[in-house]
Amino acid sequence: MGDVILVTGGTGLVGKAIEYVINNEPEGSRFGRKPGEKWIFASSKEGDLRDPEQTKALFEKYKPTHVIHLAALVGGLFKNMKYKLTFLRENVLINDNILHTSYLSNTKKLISCLSTCVFPDKVEYPLNELNIHNGPPHESNFGYAHAKRLVDVQNHAYNEEFGCNFTSAIPTNVFGPHDNFDLEDAHVIPALIHKCYNAKKNGTPFVVAGTGKPLRQFIYSHDLAKLFIWQLREYDSVEPVILSVGENEEVSIKQVADAIVKAVGFQGEYSFDTSRADGQFRKPASNEKLLKLMGGFEFTPFDKALDDTVAWFVANYNSARIGKPKA
Ligand SMILES: NC(=O)c1ccc[n+]([C@@H]2O[C@H](COP(=O)([O-])OP(=O)(O)OC[C@H]3O[C@@H](n4cnc5c(N)ncnc54)[C@H](OP(=O)(O)O)[C@@H]3O)[C@@H](O)[C@H]2O)c1
Repeated sequence: MGDVILVTGGTGLVGKAIEYVINNEPEGSRFGRKPGEKWIFASSKEGDLRDPEQTKALFEKYKPTHVIHLAALVGGLFKNMKYKLTFLRENVLINDNILHTSYLSNTKKLISCLSTCVFPDKVEYPLNELNIHNGPPHESNFGYAHAKRLVDVQNHAYNEEFGCNFTSAIPTNVFGPHDNFDLEDAHVIPALIHKCYNAKKNGTPFVVAGTGKPLRQFIYSHDLAKLFIWQLREYDSVEPVILSVGENEEVSIKQVADAIVKAVGFQGEYSFDTSRADGQFRKPASNEKLLKLMGGFEFTPFDKALDDTVAWFVANYNSARIGKPKA
């Protein structure tokens, strides 16, 4: 019998990207499907992973040999600040159920997903895999951050006590098709795409919050998907790996907005509201460990990835996650 890979959170931004890559890369290639392999992309409708019984039933149904665990309660800054206990508790429940059920089911390998926003607030840059626990996370998202950090602690404990092959990935800011474009709650790229799209449609100005100067690393979801597949196949250590573009590939929010204006074809008034807060100027993460282990990786150029994302949003506006009722 071939391997069965269960992807939790399989209907989200990252899950859909893994599904795309596994269905489109040549079979048997480094990031392609292996002969006889079965991939399951589970949504919350298949089982609420906050509930141990539903988690157990999902594992009994598919009998996964490997698990990529993406399911999480995720959200932007506002939601994180408002619902700290909910973010802490629901993510702790989901993660504990997945880790313990994977252990009880003798799963051969489990990769869980952390995030660079779990790092300490006051830390040396660039971020690296050794610094996750060296100080409290930023106050705004401490619920989410502590729940995610605990996965790394649990991975080590399952590994030491039971020899489980559990590990974790730490992606930077992800964007791509199937993202959450809800203006109330989206990350910066999907929010700006949606805003610019509305400005074009309604003939109104496109106003970007802040000065546009802060720098960020963004990874295209299809690239991240390949890195997850690499980690599944070729990486066997409990220690986490940062999955990111390099430090020299930071882009400013202005570069992001300029690229969106171009991709959307917006020709109206475009400005920056400098009275709005900028957030941290930069918080670069190092991908040195990743590239050393992989022996190099070609990331999709940012503008090309952004064009593809905008094209997907425009083509799928009626079914995309845009929050408010469609205008
Ligand atoms: N987006 C980023 O920039 C970013 C950056 C770093 C790390 N990450 C991490 O990457 C992972 C995937 O994020 P994403 O951006 O793909 O999120 P997303 O698009 O919001 O998708 C979340 C997924 O989790 C599932 N889910 C949520 N609650 C669940 C529950 N109680 N039971 C079962 N499934 C549940 C959702 O299922 P339904 O849709 O069916 O409800 C959905 O498939 C997360 O662990 C996140 O922390 C994301």
